[in-house]
Amino acid sequence: MSSPGEQSGSETLEITKRLVAPYLSGWSLRIYLFLLKYVPGLLSFVFWNTGLTSLRKLKLEECPTNLPLPIPKEYFGIKETKVDEVKGLEIFEGNKSAQKNYSSEFLCANDFHEAYLTKKATPLQVCEILIGKIEESLLCNPPLNAIIKYEREDIIEQATASTNRYADNRPLGPLDGVPIAVKDEMDVKGYETNVGTSFINRGVIAKTDATLIERLKKQGAIIIGKTSMHELGLGISGNNPNVGTCRNPHNINHYPGGSSGGSAAAIASGLCPIALGCDGGGSIRIPSAFCGIYGLKTTWGRFSTKGEFSLDPTVAVSGPMSVSADDLALAYYAMAGKDDEDPNTYYQPLPTLSGLYNTENLSDLRIGIYKAWNKQVCNPAITQALNDFIEKLKSLGANIIEIDIPDLEEVRIAHVITICSEISTSGKRYKEIFFKCNYDSRCNVELFSLATASDYIIAQQLRTRFMRNLSDLFNKQKIDLILTPSTAITAPKIYPKSLKYGEADLETVSDAMRFVNFVNFAGIPAVSVPAGYDDKQLPIGLQFVAKWFDEATLLRIAKVSEEILGNKRKRPNDFWFGDLIPK
Ligand SMILES: *[C@@H]1O[C@H](CO)[C@@H](O)[C@H](O)[C@H]1NC(C)=O
Ligand SMILES: *[C@@H]1O[C@H](CO)[C@@H](O)[C@H](O)[C@H]1NC(C)=O
Ligand SMILES: *[C@@H]1O[C@H](CO)[C@@H](O)[C@H](O)[C@H]1NC(C)=O
Ligand SMILES: *[C@@H]1O[C@H](CO)[C@@H](O)[C@H](O)[C@H]1NC(C)=O
Repeated sequence: MSSPGEQSGSETLEITKRLVAPYLSGWSLRIYLFLLKYVPGLLSFVFWNTGLTSLRKLKLEECPTNLPLPIPKEYFGIKETKVDEVKGLEIFEGNKSAQKNYSSEFLCANDFHEAYLTKKATPLQVCEILIGKIEESLLCNPPLNAIIKYEREDIIEQATASTNRYADNRPLGPLDGVPIAVKDEMDVKGYETNVGTSFINRGVIAKTDATLIERLKKQGAIIIGKTSMHELGLGISGNNPNVGTCRNPHNINHYPGGSSGGSAAAIASGLCPIALGCDGGGSIRIPSAFCGIYGLKTTWGRFSTKGEFSLDPTVAVSGPMSVSADDLALAYYAMAGKDDEDPNTYYQPLPTLSGLYNTENLSDLRIGIYKAWNKQVCNPAITQALNDFIEKLKSLGANIIEIDIPDLEEVRIAHVITICSEISTSGKRYKEIFFKCNYDSRCNVELFSLATASDYIIAQQLRTRFMRNLSDLFNKQKIDLILTPSTAITAPKIYPKSLKYGEADLETVSDAMRFVNFVNFAGIPAVSVPAGYDDKQLPIGLQFVAKWFDEATLLRIAKVSEEILGNKRKRPNDFWFGDLIPK
């Protein structure tokens, strides 16, 4: 298929529309909300002006698909996993030599595990140091605001149990004693689940762990606290006057990204090697890219949602975020798989890490790039990083194939309609949403309530068509991976006047989300990997996308990417807490 960017040679060609909108913060934002609510017709005008009515002209005949499961498996080319492909955590033990020293500037899960095995440190010692560092991260000026809630006694209790297991030479595995933080969107026993708001579950302490947390604890992981997030997950910066705005460890005056910004910043600043995030429209991949870490958005239906507070259930999934590619695979494997209590997980083939360390020869991989779309970035350093990666991948034998992905602009709108209708519908369970939320969330909730049932259904009809079109790409054109930038920008700047009342910055939202939302809409998995830095030393992320349930290929390419980047990764300049293992 021809790529339009090639013919015109134009840098300004838009495959997906770049929104142009005024930046609002402080008083202007509060006045805007007031006008939206009380000036007749203004809300409808804005709704129309942002293109949200544009699906109405489509004449689709497809049946709507509401849950993005690739049904039936035969049509979508989904194969059951062969039993001999099911490689568990033993793959790490068997491939110690492949875990090269590329992330040595950072503490990875294996560094903790080794330190405990060799009696260099105990989980208890590490957690005592860690609690001090979390306090420091909250008390410094300005605070990092990454891990915003932690329960000292609970951490010490878990660390003591882990210490005893190592003392008895019976650790539960490579995650035993490894500190892990959790986005405040998932239940952890002993904590409130506030979803970045000032009102949801206030005073309500979770009595049980979400399934994913249960699985991590079963491996001995130590849950060290809850991370800050963009309120309700309704934004990509991490600005949040209600719970405190999180900072980017690489530059204190920039955002960490969102909505899982606290998880990304906790990892990047060295507070933990692994954290959990949730991704309904880039919320794992955007902050991973902005903070220079790894983030995996899993296939819809791969991870249990039991105990997760999901406002946008048909696009959102949880996934691991981590300091290294190995840690991403380790955490993924510990959490993936069927959960008796979440029927949406029943459909998946068995999770596997097969091929993880097959990184030297990529001749079996066909990697699709949509040239014209990939050019649609705002920072030349991103294009440079992408081109460098493509050259390295080629030199490892990968086949780079030019592709075209149909309907991306319509899919962008359909994703907005879907996620926003779901969030505003779920949000209405809480009347406080209309007066206790941050101003930007309230503007969004007002706006999104204008989507009609018919808009939502057309969006789901497009979902059917788009999933089938992608299936052709993966199965007929035999594309294993799609490579794009993770974001069209690096971490946006924090304007001081936005700290108190928030901000509305649609342009930045559209630049951050450009390459990520088609993935949520189709339910496929994707990974964001660090790929270097721009001229301000802010991290750049690249995204690889795979077909449904093929996380194994994403984890393999994450490992390859780590080797490609080599020792170019740097500790952040502004926040670094990483010396958790005593010398
Ligand atoms: C090490 O990794 C390779 C490639 O992924 C795999 O074939 C091999 O079985 C692994 N070794 C062990 C002992 O798991
Ligand atoms: C990893 O690299 C660091 C510094 O580059 C070095 O101090 C350390 O010994 C290395 N570790 C291993 C296991 O090679
Ligand atoms: C990579 O693997 C392919 C297929 O197995 C093989 O034909 C090719 O020679 C290998 N390339 C290198 C450089 O080893
Ligand atoms: C996408 O699917 C529609 C409906 O099946 C089909 O008409 C169209 O040709 C497909 N587009 C591509 C690029 O495959």
